This record gives sequence, structure tokens and C-alpha cells, in this order.
Amino acid sequence: MSKNRVSRRQFLSYTLTGVGGFMAAGMLMPMVRFAIDPVLQSHGGGDFVQTELKVTDITEEPVKVDFSFEQVDAWYKSDVTSVAWVYKSGDQIIALSPVCTHLGCMVDWGADSAHPDQFFCPCHAGRYEKNGKNIAGTPPTRPLDEYDIQEKDGYLMIGPTKANTLS
Ligand code: FES
Repeated sequence: MSKNRVSRRQFLSYTLTGVGGFMAAGMLMPMVRFAIDPVLQSHGGGDFVQTELKVTDITEEPVKVDFSFEQVDAWYKSDVTSVAWVYKSGDQIIALSPVCTHLGCMVDWGADSAHPDQFFCPCHAGRYEKNGKNIAGTPPTRPLDEYDIQEKDGYLMIGPTKANTLS
């Protein structure tokens, strides 16, 4: 007989430790996976969103372009619709954010009959030139933001906003 016989007490101790460890791993693994899930997500497709506006249809007159994308905020996904004011200046395509830099209302092109060639914010009568530059004497203190843009298969793609580079 071997001297290394496992006693009944040791056998039970090993068995319970093994089963307990297995059960603990079974409970902890989903928690760990849940905690690091956003890190494991793939972010294919880039930050640009395709619009339904053909590049050849863009003129020098600003038009309002709606676009939608899926926004992921940690574990919460939602569909967001956003807007850009798009026009052509020479060969350059410009896409401006509609968000007034005063307090965040939406600006409109040509909505003020006294200033038909400007963006107008109805909340506090803020005004901006066509390139987004804020007009002195009105509430906004900085220009409208600008979107990064790309062209894909003849359609306009809209990317993240950046500080206005035109004014
Ligand atoms: S929010 Fe646009 S002028 Fe105040």
C-alpha cells in the first residue's frame, strides 16, 4: 500500500474546492465579459456617415442634409439623426453644423428676411455669415463648427465636427 493515500477528508476538501472554483469561474466570466465588452467591440466603417446627397447635386446655395447613424454610448445603442448645412464654394464642399454656438439652438439659412444670405438663429437672433463666421453684435461668440467630409461613390459622407476653418 502507498503511504500517499488520500484521506476521506482530503478527498472531500479537494472535490469541494474544485467544484467551488468551477462555479465561481462560471459566475465571474460573464461579469468580466460584460465589464470589458465596449473594449471588445469592433468599430469597422469609420466615423463617416453616408448621406443621400449626390456630390453633383451640391450647389452654392446651402441645403439642409439629414443623416442618421448608430451611436454607441457604453452599452447603450441608439439611432441618432443629425443635420448639416451643405454647399459648394468654388470646388470645395462645405458642411456646417447647424448648432448655434451661443446656446445650442438650430440655425436656419436665410430665415431672417433682413439678412437672407446669412444663417439665422431664432432663439436670440444670432447670425452667421455663409462660411459660418459669427456676426459681431449678435449673441454667438464663435463660428459654426464644420464637419469633415468625404465623397464615396458619388455621394457625400459626413464625418466628425471640427472647429471652423473657413472664417
Ligand atoms: S442660441 Fe442661438 S443666438 Fe442664442
